[in-house]
Amino acid sequence: MVDIHSHILPLLDDGSRALEESIVMLQKSIASGVDAIVATPHLYPGRYVASTLDRDQVLSELLDEVHQQQLHIEIFPGRECFFAPEMYDYEKDIGKLTITDNGKYLLIESPLGEIPQYVDQMIFDLQIRGVTPVIAHAERYHDVIENPNLAHKYIQMGCLIQINVGSLLGESGSDIQRTAKILLEHRMGHIVASDIHTHMSTPLGKGFETLTEIVGEEEGLRLVEERPRSVIKNLPVQCPDPLEYRPKKSFRNLWGLLQ
Ligand SMILES: [Fe+2]
Repeated sequence: MVDIHSHILPLLDDGSRALEESIVMLQKSIASGVDAIVATPHLYPGRYVASTLDRDQVLSELLDEVHQQQLHIEIFPGRECFFAPEMYDYEKDIGKLTITDNGKYLLIESPLGEIPQYVDQMIFDLQIRGVTPVIAHAERYHDVIENPNLAHKYIQMGCLIQINVGSLLGESGSDIQRTAKILLEHRMGHIVASDIHTHMSTPLGKGFETLTEIVGEEEGLRLVEERPRSVIKNLPVQCPDPLEYRPKKSFRNLWGLLQ
């Protein structure tokens, strides 16, 4: 499996707190079936602003340790960019923010409350530069929980949708778990990743059984293996057409209509 979202680099953000912890995170990922992982420390203006140079330095130290300990996992560079115009103040070269530094896929997150208006324009600008935005943990945004079809809109704008394995397992609450399930059932989730922050976080492979219960084994493998592997190889990602989510009418809604 390929995990495209992780905070395994120590002391750059709210993720791993030491090289030893990073190694445990990697060991647990490997044991769960992961053989490639993208290190995506936050770039969050005003909060986590490690430079590309810092990231590369820490990544190279981790790679040395992985080599020493003979761990069988590939690690690629990436960032999780808080989607705001200010992100360009910290790194002008957009390519350096993308997964594998190759300028094709950019992992982005937005405020978890209301998604700001400028997001649409920023997505459009990225597309013009040939960059495909990957929306991190889409199921966690308040606006998507309220209206899962919002993901449909971003898919039509050319984005990929990433879902956290912990959300599927209910680690972020029942509303987020329900939304993750809705997105997957309606083909509005393209990739599942871990977003691991500590040695206690759930590694990607731990959710595979739950995932297959929702979408079946074939699609489950596309979500954790086929599509994320295309991302790290900078290849196009094949996605099915999304289905519209139609909430079932509750008794309360029906009663309101009758009155
Ligand atoms: Fe993250």
